Amino acid sequence: MPLTHLECARCGRRHEAGEVLHLCVDCNSPLLARYDLQRAAREMRPGHLALREPTLWRYREVLPVDDPDARISLGEGMTPLLALPRLGESLGLHRVSVKEEGGNPTGSFKARGLSVAVSMAKALGATDVCLPSAGNAGSALAAYAARGGLRAHVFVPKDINPLFLMETAAFGAEVVTVDGLITDAGKVCAARAKEQGWYDCATLKEPYRLEGKKTLGYELAEQLGWRLPDAILYPTGGGTGLLGMWKAFEELEAMGFIPAGARPRLYAVQPEGCAPIVKAFTEGRDDAPMWEGATTLAHGLRVPKAIGDFMMLRALRASHGAGVTVSEAELIQGVKDAARHEGLFFSPEGGACVAALRKLKGSGHIAADDHVVVFDTGTGYKYFHNMEPAWNLA
Ligand SMILES: Cc1ncc(COP(=O)(O)O)c(C=O)c1O
Repeated sequence: MPLTHLECARCGRRHEAGEVLHLCVDCNSPLLARYDLQRAAREMRPGHLALREPTLWRYREVLPVDDPDARISLGEGMTPLLALPRLGESLGLHRVSVKEEGGNPTGSFKARGLSVAVSMAKALGATDVCLPSAGNAGSALAAYAARGGLRAHVFVPKDINPLFLMETAAFGAEVVTVDGLITDAGKVCAARAKEQGWYDCATLKEPYRLEGKKTLGYELAEQLGWRLPDAILYPTGGGTGLLGMWKAFEELEAMGFIPAGARPRLYAVQPEGCAPIVKAFTEGRDDAPMWEGATTLAHGLRVPKAIGDFMMLRALRASHGAGVTVSEAELIQGVKDAARHEGLFFSPEGGACVAALRKLKGSGHIAADDHVVVFDTGTGYKYFHNMEPAWNLA
C-alpha cells in the first residue's frame, strides 16, 4: 500500500492511516496523506503513464485507494489543457492555456476530490457522507454516493442556484438549505454528522478530497511533458485546488519527475466581495480572519473563512506568487472574453481568472513570455441563474 500515514499540516504529528480520521487529534488542523514516494517513483514511470486509463486514477501509486474495485469512478480527470492564443494575444501574452474542468462528471473539478473521498469513506466503512456546499461539491458528492451505494446529505446556503438543488436531489441526496453562507451550512452539517455518525467530507476536514484535487497538478505536469508553467491563476474559495496542486508539485519533485526549483508562481484569485486570502496575503498575515458580509455571484468563491488559510498563505509565499481581486463586472467580462475569443463558456470562477490575468499583466506580475495556466473550475452552462442579472441581456 503506497499510503503510509497521515501528517498534520500544522504541527506535523503522525497519524496512522486506515481508520476514519478527520483532523489532527492534537491541534484540530488538516491532515495530509503521505506515501512511499520512492516506491511510487519506481512504479509510476512517466513513459508508461500514457498507456493508462484517461482518468485521475492513472496516478494510483500516489492515491489512497489500493483496490481497483474500491474506486468509485465516473470518468473524472484528464481534462483538456487548451491553448488560448486569441485571448492571450488580446492581453499581450504569448502563451496562455486553460485547464478546462467543465467536462468532469457533474460539470466541475469537485468530481476529483469527491471520487477519491467517497471511495475512501466507503472503504473505511461509511454508509453516509455529507458536506456543506455552494453547489458544485454537493452535486458531485451526491453523484459519487449514488454510484457507490452510499447515502449523501448536502447542506447549502438557501440562496444558491436552484439548478444545483434539483441536480443534487436527482442523485438521491438529502438536501438541507441553511439561512446563511457556506460557513453556516458547515456548522449545521458538522453537528448532524457528529450526531448521526456520518463521514464528513467538508473541505480539508478529511484528508482525501485533497488527494483527488492534487491530480490537477499531476495532469498539468504530464500534459506539459513534465515541465510546469511559470504561473498558475486559481479561483480560490476553500483552497483545496491550490493546495492540492502545491502538494502534487512537492511530491513530483521528491519523486524526481520535475527538477527542484521549477514550481510555478501561484496566484489566488478572489472576488472583491469575498477576498479573505488576498487581504491576509497583502497584510503579511499567517492566517485569514473571517470576511464579514461576503457577497459574489461566483458562489464557489463565497467562502468567508477557510480552515486551510494558513496553508494557502504559506504556498502563495513559497511560490513567489500573490493574491489578486476582481470585481463582479470584471469577472463577467472575463467570461465574455473567453467566450468571444476562444469559444469556451467559463464559469464565473473561470471568468475571474481571465480578469485577474489582465490585471497581473498590467501590474507587471506576469510578463509577455510567461507561460500562464488559468483554471476554469466548472462549466459556465450551469450558471445562468447567477450570471444573467449581471450580464445585461436587455
Ligand atoms: C466552480 C468553482 N470554482 C472554484 C471553487 C473554489 O474551490 P476551492 O475550494 O478549491 O478553492 C469552487 C468551490 O465551490 C467552485 O465551485
